[in-house]
Amino acid sequence: MKFFVDTADVAAIAELNDLGMVDGVTTNPSIILKSGRNILEVTKEICSIVSGPVSAEVVATKADEMIAEGRKLAEIAPNITVKVPLTWDGLRACKVLSGEGRMVNVTLCFSANQALIAAKAGATFISPFVGRLDDINMDGMELISDIRQIYDNYGFDTQILAASIRTVNHITQCALVGADVITAPPSVIKALANHPLTDAGLAQFEKDWAKTGQKIL
Ligand code: G3P
Repeated sequence: MKFFVDTADVAAIAELNDLGMVDGVTTNPSIILKSGRNILEVTKEICSIVSGPVSAEVVATKADEMIAEGRKLAEIAPNITVKVPLTWDGLRACKVLSGEGRMVNVTLCFSANQALIAAKAGATFISPFVGRLDDINMDGMELISDIRQIYDNYGFDTQILAASIRTVNHITQCALVGADVITAPPSVIKALANHPLTDAGLAQFEKDWAKTGQKIL
């Protein structure tokens, strides 16, 4: 399973990238707002760090304008993935942009049927939002599982990019049901290393080692 980082925080991306934890990056207008940076500048900087797909989202709502924005974003670097919303116009833009050989991430997916038509429109990635479904007492993980089954039934090669990942348990569940990619904030990816028994075990080892009076270096 690939790990994308859902942030425009360049320092956080670089730290995780140095550890081999970054297969790609996803951004959206809210993330760009949070960064306080210009979209073209920050996306270019991210692409200079990460060689995998870097999603940059269009903001227009009409297909023609989305296509123009997508072409401009794609000029930033060869690894740009144009992110379009799962609307009829977004699907039209997806079809045109993917037909031009560009990677397209169709975002704001909340149903299996939306994922089905995104695949038919040539999406490289589909982004179902797990956390936002959980927020309204629906089952985000069930959606990932349904899309996996549908794509496998018909051999669609659109990759399932599980988004709106909020917890380490979401990541475990995504790995179990076969999501191709998860995108999560750096804090959630770093939390994968945590376990209270690891902390307790380490504390005990430190105490016992001190009692030996030995040094390795
Ligand atoms: O990739 C989409 C993601 O950023 C949405 O996450 O936590 O705002 O629902 P969230």
